[in-house]
Formats: sequence, C-alpha cells, structure tokens
Amino acid sequence: MSNLVSQVLGIKYPIIQGAMVWATSPSLVIGVSEAGGLGVLGTGNATPDILQTLIREVKKATDKPFGANLLMIPDLLEAVGPVCIAEKLPVIYAGILANLDIELAKKHFFRWHEAGMKIVFKACFISDALKAQEAGADVIILKGWEGGGLVSQETTSVLIPQGADCINVPLVASGGICDGRTMAAALTLGAQAIEMGSAFMLADECDIADACKDEIIKTGDMGTVMTGFNIYNTSRQIRNKYTNDITAFQENNPKEIVMVGFKEKTAGAVKRAMHEGDIVNGSIMVGQIVPLLKEKRPAKEIIETTVSDCERILGRTVR
Ligand SMILES: Cc1cc2nc3c(=O)[nH]c(=O)nc-3n(C[C@H](O)[C@H](O)[C@H](O)COP(=O)(O)O)c2cc1C
Repeated sequence: MSNLVSQVLGIKYPIIQGAMVWATSPSLVIGVSEAGGLGVLGTGNATPDILQTLIREVKKATDKPFGANLLMIPDLLEAVGPVCIAEKLPVIYAGILANLDIELAKKHFFRWHEAGMKIVFKACFISDALKAQEAGADVIILKGWEGGGLVSQETTSVLIPQGADCINVPLVASGGICDGRTMAAALTLGAQAIEMGSAFMLADECDIADACKDEIIKTGDMGTVMTGFNIYNTSRQIRNKYTNDITAFQENNPKEIVMVGFKEKTAGAVKRAMHEGDIVNGSIMVGQIVPLLKEKRPAKEIIETTVSDCERILGRTVR
C-alpha cells in the first residue's frame, strides 16, 4: 500500500465517499467501506443518540474503517464528540463551508487524536485548509464549486494545484469527479486521492428514493441550478418547481428578507426529495457532474472501475 491517503486511513483504494445529508445512511457507508473505500455517514446535524445508533449499525456490519461527518460548530461538537470517542469511531470527517475557527479545531482535533481517531477535514477555501493543517488534520479534502452540497466559488481545477503547493498532509480532490478520467485529472493536478459524492447517489446501496435516482439519470447539461447565492448557502440542485420557487423568492426580495426567509423556505427540502421521493417540491441536491451519471450499480463496481480506468489512463498504480 503506497498511496499516502490509503496508508493514513487504512483503506484499499484512495477513494472517499463524501458525507451527504439524507443520502449516506449505513447501507451506503458499509458498501463503500467493504469495497475498500472510506464510507462516511452524513451526520452533520445528528443528535448524539442518532449518531450512536448509526455508528453501531455500521460497526456491526463491517470491521473496515469508516467516518462520520461532524460540522465544526462549538455546541454540536461538545454534544456529539464524546459519542464518537466512546464508540471508537475510526475516522472523523469534519468540515465547515467557511471561516474555520482554528482554536476550536485545535481543541477538538487534540481530543480526537488522543482517542486514536484519524481526522479528515474538508475545506472549500485554501485558508481553511491551512488552518486545519495547523490544527493537526491527518488528511485534507479540497472541494471545488462543481461539487454537490454547499460550495464556494472556486473550481476543483484551480483549488487542487494551489493546495498541492502549500498543503503538506495527504490531499484529496473533491467536486466534479465521477470516473477514471476525472480521477486521473485530479491526481495529475496534485491530489493523492479523490472524494466522490454525487456518483455514489446511484450506488445500489444508496437508499435515496428511486424517483431521485431516475431524475439524476435523466438530467443533462444545464439541468441544475444554484440557489443560496450571496447568503453563504450556495448549493446546486436539479431544476424543478422547488428550485423555481426558491429562485423567484431570491430574485424578487431584498437580500435582508432573503437572509431571513431562506432557511425557512428550504427547511426539509432535501429530505422531502431523497426520502419521500417528492421530486417536484423537494431539493434533489447533486453536483455539476450529474450529466455523466447514467448507471445504477454496486458501490464496489463504482470504486473498482474508477480506479482501474484511472490507472490505465495514468499508466501506473494509484493504490
Ligand atoms: C445530496 C448531497 C448532500 C450533501 N451533504 C453534505 C453534508 O451533509 N456534509 C458535507 O460535508 N458535504 C455534503 N455534501 C458534499 C459531499 O460530501 C461531497 O463533498 C461532494 O458531493 C463532492 O462533489 P461531487 O458531488 O461532485 O462528487 C453533499 C453532497 C450532496 C450531493
């Protein structure tokens, strides 16, 4: 095992499955980790009890490393950090969209390291990646604007070379990666591993509603829209009635009103789509790579074809 990210995390293939709220339940995490990648529970806002149940469910099914998503919010970390320690979670997958508090990171990273956990930190800005590195993160993910979930405005192709020049811990590229070609590009730009989120939404083990998977397969070029611009809540979803309503709300109201009302208008929308299958009034959050996602298949196949195609393109092993 010579890949640095694989070595640090104890995984077979240098692929991390991005945490996805309402889309990364234990079945997907187990599927990815059993296949040799790093599965990550989408537990950003989970209560301690829920987090404990989810971690136990994964542990019962696999002895391979996996992670859980913790947002770098002080009260939340105090509440759920002890559960991760007590349950001997192998990997903490921490992140925040912007402005990481370095003192907060130092405090919690120290505790997590003392408990023997590895720390993966996901950043959308180089400044936050550098703070996470200083605080002791073992692996840094840099995520570009192409990616699903909350994003900044810089692309993966400009973030990764910058990160490769200034980050000394193993670096993972995220945003717009879904196959061997895009993995090869990311490694060529300077990353040692990749993260994929959207691509795993079509995994057989991903238990989002079938209606959402079908919409993802149907969606082509320019089929997505961004909402939440300029209010630190930018994310991409498949265009539907929900996005039309949100876009109209943003366009027809002053910023102060949007800042207040956006949260209320978007509350529960991802769950509505992913779990209830409401593809009209729900948010089918997905990355810009969606036109390339055409096939439902097992997580193992997604991982193995991505790695073997990448190795063929680069003419070398990447494991
Ligand atoms: C439906 C969806 C939900 C997401 N939720 C989260 C989340 O809760 N926490 C997080 O750190 N990232 C979240 N993300 C981002 C992913 O973890 C990952 O960084 C991103 O999907 C990578 O880009 P890609 O979609 O182009 O592969 C989400 C992405 C999607 C598509």
